[in-house]
Amino acid sequence: MTVHISAKKEDISNIVIMPGDPLRAKLIAEKYLDNYYLINQTRNMYGYTGFYKGKRITVMASGMGNASIGIYSYELFNDYDVDYIIRVGTCGAYTKTLNLFDLVLVEKSYSNSTYAKNMGFDFKCVESDEKINSIIEETIQKNGIKVVRGNIHCTDTFYNDGYEEYLSYGCLGVEMETFALFTNAKKLNKKASAILTVSDSLVTKEMISSDEREKNTLKMIELALDSIINL
Ligand code: HPA
Repeated sequence: MTVHISAKKEDISNIVIMPGDPLRAKLIAEKYLDNYYLINQTRNMYGYTGFYKGKRITVMASGMGNASIGIYSYELFNDYDVDYIIRVGTCGAYTKTLNLFDLVLVEKSYSNSTYAKNMGFDFKCVESDEKINSIIEETIQKNGIKVVRGNIHCTDTFYNDGYEEYLSYGCLGVEMETFALFTNAKKLNKKASAILTVSDSLVTKEMISSDEREKNTLKMIELALDSIINL
């Protein structure tokens, strides 16, 4: 048990899939896991542990933003001996080359968040884990899925002015959680990566409805699940 997670240590796998939305964590458990059970509901931040194709995994929500995922991923890595966290979330596109529903495998997360500084680092860019990414890449090849690999801007403010600076870093889009997640992994010598589904475009102003969001994130979730069985 930690300040924010009520699970017993043995109830959490060393591999965690982490959506932002607690109800998506519930949906993933109900749809994909065998013999799953609820391991956390403190603050309704649902977590479940079960088996996917025989592999024991935990799916637990992060909430929104670096502050929230920063807390949960820190406690999972530090107190529950979790080795791998894969975020499955959504992003807004900064480029016309990305369409709604496209998948992005995040290579680097760029941010002006103070998260890294507060954790004792002095960087504004942090990488995802290459071991996880190469396993995801193998699944992409095997399953013939289209996924774009690239950098992402991780913002602390959903409502903000402009993103020009981040285009110059090759950021394909924007979300709000990868920077704290990857920083915690670096701090604690653990591994983290992220797969994102494009849910809106800051270029064309298109966006997908919450109903469409549910069914169109399944491809991303299946990619994450089919990858972690090889971890
Ligand atoms: N901005 C920030 N975070 C996001 C967005 C966005 O447009 N879409 C999904 N996550």
